[in-house]
Amino acid sequence: MKKDFVSIDDFTPTQLHDLILLAGWLKSVRKSARDIRPLAGRSMAMIFEKPSLRTRVTFELAMVELGGHALEGQPPGVRLGGRESVPDLARNLERWVDIVVARVYKNATVRELAANMRLPLINGLCDMEHPCQAVADIQTVCELAGPRFPHVRLAFIGDGNNVCNSLLLICGALGLDLAVANPPGYAPRECFVARARTLCAASGGRLTVCHDPAEAVRGADFIYTDVWTSMGQEAEKQNREQAFRSFQVNAQLLSLAAKEHYVLHCLPAHRGEEITDEVIDGPHSRVFDQAENRLHAQKAVILSLMDPALAERLVREAGK
Ligand code: CP
Ligand code: NVA
Repeated sequence: MKKDFVSIDDFTPTQLHDLILLAGWLKSVRKSARDIRPLAGRSMAMIFEKPSLRTRVTFELAMVELGGHALEGQPPGVRLGGRESVPDLARNLERWVDIVVARVYKNATVRELAANMRLPLINGLCDMEHPCQAVADIQTVCELAGPRFPHVRLAFIGDGNNVCNSLLLICGALGLDLAVANPPGYAPRECFVARARTLCAASGGRLTVCHDPAEAVRGADFIYTDVWTSMGQEAEKQNREQAFRSFQVNAQLLSLAAKEHYVLHCLPAHRGEEITDEVIDGPHSRVFDQAENRLHAQKAVILSLMDPALAERLVREAGK
């Protein structure tokens, strides 16, 4: 049975925990004599309906560093379903490559691709989730928290969109304490909140969803934000700027956080909107460590989907 990574929920809490361990191990051996290249002769097709820096570069590099190859499936920015149907695209790709990553507008498109090919499909961001981002985020939190992990408090301030949804699920699965503050009308969809609460009940995690950034940030160890206007929402920019005005991550808001706190952002940042220069360039910011971890986290995702037996063996080694 092939396995996809369309949602954080496609992996069990134990599998997510193993991904974080594996990502850390892959980071520790990178470019050393212990590094591995198990994917010789295997290839990945990358499909991007929307722009990307981090996701595109890190997926290509992840495949190359694992000994394989990655290629752009079609010119970036082309909407799927125009030149040929999404199922036809999937049925072609599966004849040539071994795995596909897709960044698309609609979750339905990524699911249609997955349903029509016998290859693993990785969601490189859609309107519902950004699961690879969430794995790198929690890898970063885990590194910074050390032995305290997972007993840390995270605050997510801003749009209840793809990044927030995946964060809700992974924090719930792994038992973190997450407080989300969004303007009224921009809260995450109820299905993600409800699923996160169910996961929390099993993991011992905690979830607060509110409209007050101060309430969410008070005492937080990690403060995370995302853009107010995501890709594809450009027509809503003015309304969003109005709605999110009091949700900026700035020095005043951070004065409420735990003394030793860290600032995260999935990037790209719209400086001066959701985050100030002072904060993103300041001593608490770890946004570039987080961006670096996209590479290691995605290597772990790729190996878990393409060679689960090897991934399991490496997780055991990493856990020793
Ligand atoms: N964070 C993230 O996915 O960045 P890109 O849009 O540049 O891929
Ligand atoms: N929410 C943002 C994330 C970018 C990585 C977007 O969808 O544009």
